[in-house]
Amino acid sequence: MAKNVMRVAVLAMPQQLIIVLLLLLYMWALLHATAAAGGQRAGCSSKCGDVDIPFPFGIGVDCAWPRFDVVCNQSFTPPRPYTGEIEIIDISLEKGEMRFYSLVLQDYCNNSPNTTESSGIYSNFNATDTPFLFAEERNEFTAIGCGTIGLLWGKDDGSYLTGCITSCASLDAAAHDGEPCTGLGCCQVPSIPPNLNVLNLDWGNPSLVPNYAWNLGAPCSYAFVADKGWYNFRREDFGHAGSKRFVNRDGHKRVPTVLDWAIREYGSCSGSVAPACVSDHSHCNNSNNGEGYICKCSEGYDGNPYLKGNGGCIDIDECHLRTKSSIYGQLYPCYNGSRCQNTDGGYKCICRFPHRGDGTGKGCKPIIPLRIVATLATVCAMVALLGLAWFIRCEHKAWEQRGFFESNGGQLLKDMGVTTFTQEQLDTITNKKRTKIGKGTFGEVYKGLHDDQEVAVKYSTAKSSIRRGKYEFVKEMAFRKSISSNGDGTLGQKASVNEIIVQSQMRHDNVVRLIGCCMETEVPMLVFEFIPNGSLETVLHGPDLWALSLPERLDIAIGSAAALAYMHSLGLQSIIHGDVKPANILLGKDLVPKVSDFGSSKLGLATKEVCADKNYIDPVCMKTNIVTQKSDVYSFGIVLIELITRKKAKYDGRNVQSDFVNCHTDNNARREMYDQDMLHTDAHSLQPDQCIECLDTMAAIAVRCLKDDVDERPTMAEVLEELKQLRASNELMV
Ligand SMILES: *[C@@H]1O[C@H](CO)[C@@H](O)[C@H](O)[C@H]1NC(C)=O
Ligand SMILES: *[C@@H]1O[C@H](CO)[C@@H](O)[C@H](O)[C@H]1NC(C)=O
Ligand SMILES: *[C@@H]1O[C@H](CO)[C@@H](O)[C@H](O)[C@H]1NC(C)=O
Ligand SMILES: *[C@@H]1O[C@H](CO)[C@@H](O)[C@H](O)[C@H]1NC(C)=O
Ligand SMILES: *[C@@H]1O[C@H](CO)[C@@H](O)[C@H](O)[C@H]1NC(C)=O
Repeated sequence: MAKNVMRVAVLAMPQQLIIVLLLLLYMWALLHATAAAGGQRAGCSSKCGDVDIPFPFGIGVDCAWPRFDVVCNQSFTPPRPYTGEIEIIDISLEKGEMRFYSLVLQDYCNNSPNTTESSGIYSNFNATDTPFLFAEERNEFTAIGCGTIGLLWGKDDGSYLTGCITSCASLDAAAHDGEPCTGLGCCQVPSIPPNLNVLNLDWGNPSLVPNYAWNLGAPCSYAFVADKGWYNFRREDFGHAGSKRFVNRDGHKRVPTVLDWAIREYGSCSGSVAPACVSDHSHCNNSNNGEGYICKCSEGYDGNPYLKGNGGCIDIDECHLRTKSSIYGQLYPCYNGSRCQNTDGGYKCICRFPHRGDGTGKGCKPIIPLRIVATLATVCAMVALLGLAWFIRCEHKAWEQRGFFESNGGQLLKDMGVTTFTQEQLDTITNKKRTKIGKGTFGEVYKGLHDDQEVAVKYSTAKSSIRRGKYEFVKEMAFRKSISSNGDGTLGQKASVNEIIVQSQMRHDNVVRLIGCCMETEVPMLVFEFIPNGSLETVLHGPDLWALSLPERLDIAIGSAAALAYMHSLGLQSIIHGDVKPANILLGKDLVPKVSDFGSSKLGLATKEVCADKNYIDPVCMKTNIVTQKSDVYSFGIVLIELITRKKAKYDGRNVQSDFVNCHTDNNARREMYDQDMLHTDAHSLQPDQCIECLDTMAAIAVRCLKDDVDERPTMAEVLEELKQLRASNELMV
């Protein structure tokens, strides 16, 4: 049981809450509605019947500014507002005007030439002690009738008097319907003087104006002061009923009349003293009619300037109004290309982006003239194009580098453990090609530093137009690991790749060590161990004549032979140098020879030459086009002769090797050819006899190497052995 009660209570709770909430909401809405509607004080009704009653007017003394109180007579449906005796039609805060129903003066309907009928209605208006005066421009006095003098008099002392006279010979002589009132049945006084608080209508003495029209329709006379433009003449208005436009509020004929109202008790605006203008953004404006002022909202604000706070002057949202009606669109113009933005007390038309200026007035202009925009666009497009071109170039270069790397067999070399460099790395190694140490048809050689070791970098500049099939060739060469030259156009490339493969495999004191290579260029670039003393060619035949003793020469011969013998000794993988000559024998520290240049031709040399250097070439190889180990032996023989004679292979248009071979049997002639400087030098402890003997032996070896019959030539190993023995037997030479 207790449980059930609890549940009911719990269920009831939300309903109570909702009711309370609804009540609160209702009260809030009520409060808000009274505050906002019609510009009336909170708690005061802003309407009487259909008529708005804005403050300073108010229903009852408590709701109104002094003397602006209105009585709302509820006995009518809808209720009617009255101030004093007069019924209010409407009130304008903006203009300081009020319209009311004023009485029409009616008199004398002529039934016969000398009988008249009087209505006994008089229109007297006394606005003394009220805020009202007759609006001078907004009203006009009209009199209707045939033979009528309409009079209008005013001011407290009756000092103002005017009027007009109508006459018509007959009703047909009266003005036509809709014509202006010019005195034919209807006359008008177009305006009333200002500052008029008392206004009475009356008739002049009818006997002064003959009435010719009496027998034709008993015309009646009417006179009234009405809202200007309200009345249009019609002949039927002469009738007993008067104009159909006359309003019947209480059994009498009435017309709308305009009054000016103002706050009059403190006189005109004086400085900032305007007690009635209490709203923010409001100001005092002197009344056009009489002493006093009205209050106005500042420009850009709308509302009731006589009220504080919420109902007072508030900002007009011009942008919102613009969207509602085209009238506001014209009132608050905004250039088409601009965006309307409401501001406090106004609005702005913000030009859309590439434009600037005032969107409300002269309109928006482009920020940057079209011509400059076009120029800029062109420039931008060009820059973009250049950038693209640059990008493509870089991409192409990278692509080419990868391509060369691939086609040069870079991956293969990598797999075989050969160090590969990028072009950037090479530039770092040579410090951007700072020190040039050599130049040839293949390209240029620069000194560099890699891992604290001095190196020589061979930059190739030569290019080959034939690329096809290179990779296959590299693979084949890697397989065979021997150098051959078959005389096709890609000799340079093949040779260089072979050189890399071959050299990377070799470890010998007398062989220039290959440190690595760069495969990113069309022709690979090579990095060698740096050999400081140049080649045997420059040492023997160079401009600085080095003093070379016999033991030194013998050691050079032994070292070179050792290198070649080592190469030939590698069994199945044996290597043929193919281009043995002094220029390819470099001299290291202590003149230790280092054999280099392991291509059968120089890098990049697009030559049809079959075997290397013409001066050192094996005639057998020339004939057969096949390079053998014995070709190296032949070339080495010439190197030996050069060592002994210090003559170039080709000297004075002669061949040193044929000269030497021709005369070698003649001891004198042969010994004549020996380098005499070497014989007479004191650099060694060798006796000249010993020396000659030693040289004779070397000469003999050289001659055997140069035999035309390949089989008669010794092998490199034999040459090495004999040279070593010779060295040993002359141990004293050290
Ligand atoms: C309302 O109007 C009626 C009819 O004219 C009048 O008798 C009555 O006195 C008026 N009431 C007020 C409160 O003025
Ligand atoms: C009034 O009218 C009658 C005829 O209806 C006429 O005999 C008489 O003379 C008129 N009086 C005046 C003063 O015009
Ligand atoms: C108008 O009314 C005031 C008092 O309200 C009075 O003193 C004055 O004489 C009146 N004027 C006329 C012309 O009736
Ligand atoms: C006062 O109102 C008149 C029109 O009634 C206007 O021309 C004038 O500019 C206004 N003065 C001020 C200060 O608002
Ligand atoms: C804005 O555009 C309308 C039609 O799209 C045109 O009638 C009007 O004149 C334009 N207004 C301005 C300020 O350009």
